[in-house]
Amino acid sequence: MTPSHPLHVAGRLRHRLAAAGLLLALMAAGGCQNLAGTAANQYPADVNAASLGAEPPALYDALGERTGIARIVEDLLYVIVEDDRINDTFKGVDITQFHRNLTDQLCQISGGPCTYTGRTMRESHESLHITDTQFNALAEDLILAMEKNNVPVATQNRLLGRLVRLYPQIRGQ
Ligand code: HEM
Repeated sequence: MTPSHPLHVAGRLRHRLAAAGLLLALMAAGGCQNLAGTAANQYPADVNAASLGAEPPALYDALGERTGIARIVEDLLYVIVEDDRINDTFKGVDITQFHRNLTDQLCQISGGPCTYTGRTMRESHESLHITDTQFNALAEDLILAMEKNNVPVATQNRLLGRLVRLYPQIRGQ
């Protein structure tokens, strides 16, 4: 746990997402949180590029390539450890392997040159019986980790939109 971790953001996020729940909001919006505004950041401003008619940068680039994704995943693990809603589920998990596999997965999903070599989402989650509440908690933790890494909201939404497609496998549906 890094001392500077912005856990105070959690309350704000919960408030921001409280209306319908993150997952429902994501699905209703076709994979977008539809959240307005973003702080100044060091990443490409894909919203501005899009509004000028230019192609937005590949999601992988916008996330800071594999190095940026690995940092986000590391911060996600710090947030998960502090999150009493889901940290029990991760007890005994090989964190080094989980970090590598999740980084590769997010790298591949975002269009990067990585190959995810872990188990399928169905295989790795079926014995966990993941609930909607747990799924939303993890998505919220990922948002916190992306905010910590100054990923713009538009870019966050693009990644979340792709992850929502994994929902049925993770929930065992
Ligand atoms: C979009 C959501 C999610 C994604 C993309 C995701 C991704 C992954 C990946 C890539 C692995 C590694 C699989 C492997 O090593 O073969 C994994 C394992 C795991 N996931 Fe998830 N996951 C998600 C949601 C969740 C949720 C909501 C929970 C629980 C709150 C969870 C708990 C775990 C646990 C405990 C493992 C380790 C299982 C084991 O080693 O036996 N995941 N996940």
